[in-house]
Amino acid sequence: MIVPESITITDNRTGKSIEIPIENGGVSSAEWSKLLPGVWFHDPGLTTTAMTSSSITYLDGDEGILRYRGYPIEQLAEGSTYLEVAYLLLKGELPNQTQYADWVRDVTHHTFIHENVRKRFLEGFHYDAHPMGMLVSAVAALSTFYADAKQIFDPEIREKQIVRLIAKMPTLAAAAHRFSVGMPFVYPDNELSFPANFLSMMWKIAEPHFEADPALVHAIDVLFILHADHEQNCSTTAMRTAGSAHSDPYSSTAAACAALYGPRHGGANEAVVKMLNEIGSIENVEPFIKSVKEGHGQRLQGFGHRVYKNYDPRARIIKKVAYDVFEVTGKNPLLDIALKLEEVALSDDYFISRKLYPNVDFYSGLIYQAMGFPIEMFPVLFAIPRVSGWLAHYVELLDQDSKIVRPRQIFTGQGERKYLPMDQR
Ligand code: CMC
Repeated sequence: MIVPESITITDNRTGKSIEIPIENGGVSSAEWSKLLPGVWFHDPGLTTTAMTSSSITYLDGDEGILRYRGYPIEQLAEGSTYLEVAYLLLKGELPNQTQYADWVRDVTHHTFIHENVRKRFLEGFHYDAHPMGMLVSAVAALSTFYADAKQIFDPEIREKQIVRLIAKMPTLAAAAHRFSVGMPFVYPDNELSFPANFLSMMWKIAEPHFEADPALVHAIDVLFILHADHEQNCSTTAMRTAGSAHSDPYSSTAAACAALYGPRHGGANEAVVKMLNEIGSIENVEPFIKSVKEGHGQRLQGFGHRVYKNYDPRARIIKKVAYDVFEVTGKNPLLDIALKLEEVALSDDYFISRKLYPNVDFYSGLIYQAMGFPIEMFPVLFAIPRVSGWLAHYVELLDQDSKIVRPRQIFTGQGERKYLPMDQR
């Protein structure tokens, strides 16, 4: 009898069949291989492959749902802090008061970086180095400062590296920015909260104690929450791939940072700001939308998503944060163009029929720009909180005792041919 929750595959070359159960929405490739050894799924971009099972983040792109460990992103953005969310992602449960106090104390304790990381390493970069390039390298360099990092199966030692990474990301990020604009490094101020300390390290000049506007501190905290995890995206897959080889947490995080550096991943909000600048005024919105629809090689940046076929829930929260930030900084002049673009696109059949809605990047760049962050810092701002998601996946992966990532290929190159010495070619 055929089980209803299953598929049957028949190899028409031999007539042999195999029945594979559908479990948690997936079918096992190991079962498939029993019938078809040497026949591989051809899945470029892994668009239909579940590389792992995970209990960290739930995403339903059709319904526009995002939950961390079961908690809706809207509730976390409303009531939580980034550090609490980092704890939740890593440990699976919200902390109680004592656990939270200990966690904040531990992270705060580790915000400083070794003087050599700054003086000898970061200051060795070319004067106009991109801050994200500096961050990728600095994170990798940390593995050489903490020799115990290689003991990845010792839970206590591993936890120490996790705390260090979460704590040091804002310090490295701000240091990279200060260097790239020729400003002196600002040491962490451990009297401040995690987001307030980051803003202090970014913007402090000569004042003895830098206090950012509370609305901006809150906005950064919410943006950090929204960017903390997004299940199996490109950089998380890079983290899992490096982690599957049992690379240490710093080296694996550097691999993830490198993936995030790419404009298709961490750089889309920069593309949005550039696009809005190019459009230049509200009158140009309709002609711009027309040219996108006619397919002149340009896309409406900040619209559409591989997984969300509905409004990205993070975009809705970010739009609200944008207004809170503009109360303090003054309105970003690009906002009106963005609002008009959204209005025109959401009532246009081209975008409706393709289920193209604003994504997380549509408004985040406007906020960062209004707060004074240069465009080069946008992927860095993404990396600071995403490190907690990456590490949660890293820990999950090691606890799953998973196999090393080693996919197959469909070979399309030359068959065997004879090597000829150069004078005979
Ligand atoms: N503007 C205009 N048309 C679009 C857009 C867009 N932004 N996105 C998709 N389309 C069209 C595309 O031309 C295609 O049309 P047709 O069926 O007529 O050929 C259809 O919609 C499906 O597009 P696709 O390229 O197959 O979709 P995808 O899932 O491969 O691409 C995407 C997803 C995010 C790469 C794409 O929507 C895009 O390029 N968006 C703009 C860049 C952007 O905002 N990226 C940030 C994504 S969120 C980052 C994160 O979560 O980390």
